[in-house]
Amino acid sequence: MTRRHACIGHGRLARALVPALRAAGHDVVIGRRSPGAGELTAAEAARAADWVWLTVPDDAIAAVAAGLPWRPGQVALHCSGATPLSALASAPAGAGFHPLKLLAGDAGLGGAHVGIEADAAHRPELDALARQLGMVPLALPSPMTAQARAAYHAAANLAASGVLAVLAEAGALWSAAGLVGDQALAALMPLTRGTLDTAAARGLAGAVSGPIARGDTGVLARHIAALAAAGLEADLLLALGRRQLALAEAAGRLDVAQVTALRALLAAH
Ligand SMILES: NC(=O)c1ccc[n+]([C@@H]2O[C@H](COP(=O)([O-])OP(=O)(O)OC[C@H]3O[C@@H](n4cnc5c(N)ncnc54)[C@H](OP(=O)(O)O)[C@@H]3O)[C@@H](O)[C@H]2O)c1
Repeated sequence: MTRRHACIGHGRLARALVPALRAAGHDVVIGRRSPGAGELTAAEAARAADWVWLTVPDDAIAAVAAGLPWRPGQVALHCSGATPLSALASAPAGAGFHPLKLLAGDAGLGGAHVGIEADAAHRPELDALARQLGMVPLALPSPMTAQARAAYHAAANLAASGVLAVLAEAGALWSAAGLVGDQALAALMPLTRGTLDTAAARGLAGAVSGPIARGDTGVLARHIAALAAAGLEADLLLALGRRQLALAEAAGRLDVAQVTALRALLAAH
């Protein structure tokens, strides 16, 4: 089924969503805070649509929705993993459509999973829309508790921007070791991508490698010392090390003595 859509706010998410909707045959208008010549205001765009997407910053969703001229039959949607559907309470109906993709450039939505929060009346059409856009629908609990929503969003953030923080730390260590800074990402990113490919094929525990998975306590001790010598805090390495140890144990890679020695070293700093 094709719908008339309005996107209120034309930022990173909308710049991926609008072309994807149009390519799938939907009519889409865009509402702007400060419309230029030939552009629509948020209210004008919302009046022209059946489904109104609040593609604005999370903190603005409720206020922007409350300012729109809703009519019966319209559905308000937001794309925020952190915002309850109650933010859309001013609309006749509300649903969440949260792409699990970091959108900051030309990347499209195709191939990404999308967390869908909707009642039984709207879920089938949203699932179908996701597939039309080349996305994989992921059913979120509905209703979703505040605690579950925060946990869901924290996990998504760990898996996306959290990885960026790990790469920044790795780059800082390489720089301290005398490697040229602008070559770091070019070399580290394929390492990360390859790890993800292996994990996709073998699972997380099946893929884990490195000194912790091998029980190389001496190497781990030198890693911790290297951070101190570089003037870096060891907190990230130690926290990740404890999680790697759990994965290595789950894979049955280590004997009791190795686990005890690694755990003691990770706790001693
Ligand atoms: N970017 C991502 O990776 C990503 C991924 C998944 C979900 N999301 C979700 O998508 C939604 C939009 O995020 P985004 O990354 O596209 O944000 P964004 O790039 O900052 O764009 C938001 C747009 O909303 C409008 N806007 C900004 N401040 C506003 C305000 N105070 N009141 C009303 N409108 C305002 C602006 O558009 P105009 O100038 O056209 O009015 C702005 O370009 C958020 O709910 C976010 O959580 C984003």
